[in-house]
Amino acid sequence: MLYRKLTVPYFSKIQEELINSTKLNTLEFKRYWDTAWQDFESLSPTLYKFINLRKKTAVRLCRFYLTPPHDLLPPHVDGVSTNRSPLGLNIPISGIENTKMIWYDNPEYNFNDGNYGFNNMPSSRVADITLINKINEAVIDVPTFVRTDVVHAVVNPTDDYRLLLSIRFNFNEKTGKNFDEVFDLADL
Ligand SMILES: [Fe+2]
Repeated sequence: MLYRKLTVPYFSKIQEELINSTKLNTLEFKRYWDTAWQDFESLSPTLYKFINLRKKTAVRLCRFYLTPPHDLLPPHVDGVSTNRSPLGLNIPISGIENTKMIWYDNPEYNFNDGNYGFNNMPSSRVADITLINKINEAVIDVPTFVRTDVVHAVVNPTDDYRLLLSIRFNFNEKTGKNFDEVFDLADL
């Protein structure tokens, strides 16, 4: 399963809290920024309570992504191809309509590991783009668990900035690589 949309109680309240708490960074047009999980207790208490009730492993990272109008993130996997970040819980905040996350099939040999991420962080890009095939796509219009260890891209063909929060959880060799290993998905 590449993605799983969730029905989250009080989601519009969560969105409102996140919009209010991210105004400054949005105005500065940062491409991404990190916020400590503990800070969400005051930034978005509704989200904080919801996640804390359901999470099965600790929150490792909370990263906001701002994709400018008519921009994209090229096909990549999170982390490097030999040590990938498996999944994220993506919370759409604004400018999501008509934007897409797209997943692709990619031969295992077709990666370029390097410092291609924001701030030259290690990440893994597709070497030859002609070898990938689209396998699925989604508009992340509600909180959605997404696989980030399968090649994926983000496209924003609209005139608006797209703002989304991605919550990452602890994982190890034994657990934390599937949605239901990091989160209680019952009735969502
Ligand atoms: Fe990614």
